[in-house]
Amino acid sequence: MLERNEWEKFPKFKLQECNFAEYIRQFYHMSSILNCLITIGFVMVLTSNLAAAAGAEVRPENIVGPNECAECHKDEALVWKKSHHFTTFRDMPRSKESREIKKKMKIKRVKSKSLCLNCHFTVQKVKKRPKAVSGISCEKCHGDGKGYLKVHAEFSGHKKKEDEPKAKAVQRWKKSEAAGMIRPKALYALAKNCYSCHVVPQEKLVNVGGHPAGSKFELVSWSQGEVRHNVWYSKGKKNVKASKNRKRMMYLVGLAVELETAIRAVGVATKKQTYAIKMARRAAAARKKMTVAAKALRKVPEVARIVKLGKSAALKLNNNDALSAAADKIAKQTIALVTKYDGSKFGSIDKLIPSEKDYKGKPSK
Ligand code: HEC
Ligand code: HEC
Ligand code: HEC
Ligand code: HEC
Repeated sequence: MLERNEWEKFPKFKLQECNFAEYIRQFYHMSSILNCLITIGFVMVLTSNLAAAAGAEVRPENIVGPNECAECHKDEALVWKKSHHFTTFRDMPRSKESREIKKKMKIKRVKSKSLCLNCHFTVQKVKKRPKAVSGISCEKCHGDGKGYLKVHAEFSGHKKKEDEPKAKAVQRWKKSEAAGMIRPKALYALAKNCYSCHVVPQEKLVNVGGHPAGSKFELVSWSQGEVRHNVWYSKGKKNVKASKNRKRMMYLVGLAVELETAIRAVGVATKKQTYAIKMARRAAAARKKMTVAAKALRKVPEVARIVKLGKSAALKLNNNDALSAAADKIAKQTIALVTKYDGSKFGSIDKLIPSEKDYKGKPSK
């Protein structure tokens, strides 16, 4: 497993288990390469924004900034401004904890050190230079905006949405996703994105810097509290809650990504210290929860497979090959889950899903 910054550059290879080294090794075996490409094509069709799912390479020139989004999405921006994702820009660098981490990591300024930048800030190119312009803004969750800003917002040349033929609208969304947009319905990509920050796979930052190894994250409770800004389609009148079916899918997909991410994080551990211990505990806890979910969903083979895969590699040091192979396969099963089901038959897991009192932060309105 590569460092976050590095694996971001090869998201497609990484997830499809045909990494770059493998490409070169198999150079003369055309069939393997073709297989790989076919797999890529196949999965790209399943979730056309898979590249974004693994967290695309950080490209400040592709960021338009939250003010640009707020030109049309004012209500969403107002909700965002009340969240920790917004306030971290001002608060984190000033906090006592931050000063301690900086000292231990020998960092001078957090807003110009990429180690902290990717997770705490949005970096945009301003006057030819990358600059931290805000906290965790729209594009950190919905994808770098430059590519889809125009296309997603224009009704294929029609003035009003009502005048746009259905087929054209489908095309418009396809184009937007191909350009890196992570839509709310792309649950796997969305969850992967949250976890790319809420689990911290940097061993040194945790062991030496004393940074938290991650958050006690759970997708339903963490997305339906202070983060929730479903105020677009309701024209600002209501902050719409996720539906029952959506919550079921969110719970399952979130849990699967939790397992996938924790296993990867164990894979990169090199020392039996805080980092390795916390990540192994995290993975073990995720396995248990997934096992409980699988018992409630006996008729869903993907969930059973995820449980089995989760247990297929030992949670120990120097076991990265087995652990990341298991994580890759869990990712495939999770994508299959999102593609095949809509949650309508998953009532048996309702008792496992956190209730409103456990939501993280207060939702607006
Ligand atoms: C010029 C106006 C405009 C701007 C600027 C704009 N949007 Fe939108 N956005 C829209 C419109 C219009 C829709 C709804 C399209 C529809 O109903 O088919 C939309 C829908 C969305 C959706 C919902 C997608 C879905 O699957 O339903 C998201 C997420 C979104 N925009 C994010 C952003 C982000 C992030 C930015 C900044 C990078 C941004 N938008 C900038 C006009 C805009
Ligand atoms: C992989 C993503 C990631 C990286 C890299 C990262 N952080 Fe964090 N950081 C987080 C998350 C997620 C939290 C919230 C943890 C929680 O839920 O308790 C956090 C919390 C914190 C906090 C405590 C809460 C606050 O905002 O005051 C501080 C301080 C902090 N980080 C500083 C840093 C510094 C300094 C760096 C760079 C040296 C850094 N972080 C790098 C993800 C990251
Ligand atoms: C922390 C990640 C995150 C950030 C930051 C974020 N979003 Fe979202 N956004 C989401 C999630 C998750 C959903 C779907 C939530 C759900 O299903 O309940 C969503 C939903 C939406 C929707 C659909 C709303 C509706 O009425 O259904 C729009 C539009 C949108 N976001 C735009 C934005 C804009 C504009 C910003 C910046 C001002 C922004 N988002 C910031 C994660 C984020
Ligand atoms: C770019 C990195 C990043 C992404 C992507 C991200 N977060 Fe966060 N999130 C953070 C950091 C860092 C904090 C801590 C901020 C602070 O307290 O200073 C945080 C804080 C939060 C909090 C407040 C936690 C508290 O202690 O009150 C919630 C809730 C949350 N995130 C939910 C989500 C959800 C849901 C998603 C995905 C839809 C998501 N986040 C995506 C980095 C991220």
